[in-house]
Amino acid sequence: MTSFKSLLGAVALSLGALAPEAPVHAQELRIGLITPPAHQWTKSAAHLAERLAEESGERLVLTVFSSGQLGNEAQLLQQLQAGALDMAFMTVGEFANRDAEFGALTAPYLVESAEQAAQLLEGPTATGLLDKALDLGVVGLGWGMAGMRIVLVSKPLGEDGTVAGRKMRTVPLAQELDFWSRAGAAPTPLPLPDLFDAYANGQIDGMQIDLEGTFNTRFHDYSAAVLDSEHMIFPMIAVVSARKWQTLTEEDRALIARLVAEETAAIRAAYPGIDADYRARLAEDGAPLVKAGPEIFGNAVETWYEEWRGRTPILTALEAEAATLR
Ligand code: BEZ
Repeated sequence: MTSFKSLLGAVALSLGALAPEAPVHAQELRIGLITPPAHQWTKSAAHLAERLAEESGERLVLTVFSSGQLGNEAQLLQQLQAGALDMAFMTVGEFANRDAEFGALTAPYLVESAEQAAQLLEGPTATGLLDKALDLGVVGLGWGMAGMRIVLVSKPLGEDGTVAGRKMRTVPLAQELDFWSRAGAAPTPLPLPDLFDAYANGQIDGMQIDLEGTFNTRFHDYSAAVLDSEHMIFPMIAVVSARKWQTLTEEDRALIARLVAEETAAIRAAYPGIDADYRARLAEDGAPLVKAGPEIFGNAVETWYEEWRGRTPILTALEAEAATLR
């Protein structure tokens, strides 16, 4: 007959065997991004996962899905809205196409530098815009950014010195498409993961990208000119599924909100240096890097503002705030 003592021992053993590394009540969370592992957004998502684990005593376990493993940004947003995905670091593309005010942050020459971009994203207008994410089924917890946008062309600019007549890769966002059309180019929306093949195969004549993406994907090897125009901010919005948010405790919401705010602040602070670093690496690598001003876009900048000030009133507020940063 089994003694009480041996029964207790068996129970203790089986509990020991079951003891998981994380607490039994651990919450599994998933964050999706389209950027590759080497990109700063992906590194920051991994850092956020570490911090969440540490500060929650391993109770909040965040797994990072990079490189569009969970789909493109349209699919990521759908999953967030359905509660099938918990978090994402996203471009404003999908947001702008549902509420044009988000696209106002991509206004050409809104700021003069990555430092000013970071400051504008910390200001009251951009911060207020985060609240509007809730109408799209997600909780906006902070603005990050990528490097300032530059222009790559596979063939040298023509005599007029503009990008007119080129098939240029853009993000599928109304304001960007309109800008490139006004510049006389043929805007060709392409997601980041499809870009290398399209450029290497000559399906596009150029692209709007950043210094980081140019160097890491070696797009400069396929370019006649890397036009360092810094003409546009490229904002990143850090979001949590509103459905998921409702299920979290007050304590977990506060922790996630604080850590995401810290992570996005670190991203904003890092990008001026990241841009400078990649600019130096491209120059060292012999990339055909040249400074370029708004003249490469013809008169697109002026006519773009005339159109979009009327369509997105937030633009005037952003312009006024940006003017104070100069
Ligand atoms: C892009 O589509 O160019 C891009 C997307 C995410 C981060 C940086 C760049």
